[in-house]
Amino acid sequence: VTAAASSDLYDTDALPNPEVITRLNAMFALPLDRLKVIVKQIISDMKTGLERDGGAIKMLPTFVTKRPSGRERGSYLAIDFGGTNLRVCELVLNGHAGEPQLLQSKFQISENVKTGSGSALFDFIAECVRSFFQTHHALDAHDWNSKRWQLGFTFSFPVDQISIKAEIENFDEKESANLSTDTSFIQGTLITWTKGFTATNVIDRDSIRLLEDAFERMNLNIEVTALVNDTTGTLISHAYQNPDTYAGVILGTGSNCAYVEKFSNITKFRGPPPPLGTTEMLINMEWGGFDDAQVVIPRTKYDLLLDRNTPTPGSYTFEQLISGMYIGEIVRLVVLDLARTGDLFAKATIVVRSPLHKQYGFETSYMSRIERDHSFDLADVKALLEGDEFEIVGTTLADRKIIKAVCEMIGLRSARLAAAGVCAVVTKMNKLNGCTIGIDGSLFEKYPHYPNRMRDAMREILGISSENILLEQAKDGSGQGAGLIAALAAEAAVGIQ
Ligand code: GLC
Repeated sequence: VTAAASSDLYDTDALPNPEVITRLNAMFALPLDRLKVIVKQIISDMKTGLERDGGAIKMLPTFVTKRPSGRERGSYLAIDFGGTNLRVCELVLNGHAGEPQLLQSKFQISENVKTGSGSALFDFIAECVRSFFQTHHALDAHDWNSKRWQLGFTFSFPVDQISIKAEIENFDEKESANLSTDTSFIQGTLITWTKGFTATNVIDRDSIRLLEDAFERMNLNIEVTALVNDTTGTLISHAYQNPDTYAGVILGTGSNCAYVEKFSNITKFRGPPPPLGTTEMLINMEWGGFDDAQVVIPRTKYDLLLDRNTPTPGSYTFEQLISGMYIGEIVRLVVLDLARTGDLFAKATIVVRSPLHKQYGFETSYMSRIERDHSFDLADVKALLEGDEFEIVGTTLADRKIIKAVCEMIGLRSARLAAAGVCAVVTKMNKLNGCTIGIDGSLFEKYPHYPNRMRDAMREILGISSENILLEQAKDGSGQGAGLIAALAAEAAVGIQ
């Protein structure tokens, strides 16, 4: 079934106003010819992004030039920061002798942390690390601070990385005096916040320095030896299990992809030359910024309204059409509009304080729940709408069918756009003959039909070759990946190739 014909997907029987569905579907559908234009444009923007800075797709070099061999050893810390939760992990690698062990603690990131001062944000991160030690190393409390830990920092935002490990001579004496000889010195500046973060005094500053300063304020003996994006971490950790992994994709709060690029294609590369014999480097695409000029993908008035109400309008608008932070909000805007025109809730009452009236009040997890309801009277949709979540009483079956159809259209559009991204990456890598893509994030993991909708769209776009491309669920990739990259950095520092 193509999206063009997908109004057949919706059961419009017994709807008093089936034309509502037809009209909305015309706005949200992405027929195959459009998808193909999108794929072509992504590939072309990828090429431009590898040649020069400042394109819509940033194509950031990650300085990660090799994938793990399985021989890595040691104990590394990792922080995963950049979505709904923060995770602190300790990864113990035993070489080939057994599975890696992962200890972790999870913390919720509050609105205050996201939108307050930068130093409060980094203090919060350091506080979480301290609490991790207290939970997992309480017995040797006097001990954990006596060793200097190496930490991989997953900071899932667009970061301009100067290097993962630069020559110590490049720094002035005061700085190098503070560095032991085997220290990797890394640096990376935040280009822009995404996903609703606005903390002050972080953009254009070195995120590693900010984090290490916070560790110092808290007397934590930790050195940041790798700076990683969640997509890069996902790729590396999935490749650890499956060496055929060539891309890591996040479909969660935000959306993005990292993949393996030929080093010689990254003509804009500056910074210290990578180790001799380097043939590839991972690229963090930052595909969320694709089509910010809004010329290739048709936008609805709801998409435009959502964008206007973000702290950074006009930025990361591709991500807004795909990711978990935003697509529930698009559903909410449609539902409100239909309520206003009388196409929804004509006989229902909505309390004033209903989250339906609040920005981001309709979480993407509700879309999953609604799409999962296959009962003939949509009883669970009714329970959701009438319950504490929304307090909308007196919905008709027709109301609920329309709401479910709206979720389907917006969920389907998200999956088709993500599929277009993956098709572009695989084509650019010349891997149509076969490779694995590791995918993490709640949409891919929990949203009903999401992986199949992606596969269907990939089949439409690529034909039979799409069957060579395996989309695999990558679990906890970014935490483990950051630990692994810290291990790779440590190997590089002692000269293991
Ligand atoms: C946003 C960030 C990007 C990250 C993605 C998924 O797009 O800019 O760095 O990978 O979200 O978390």
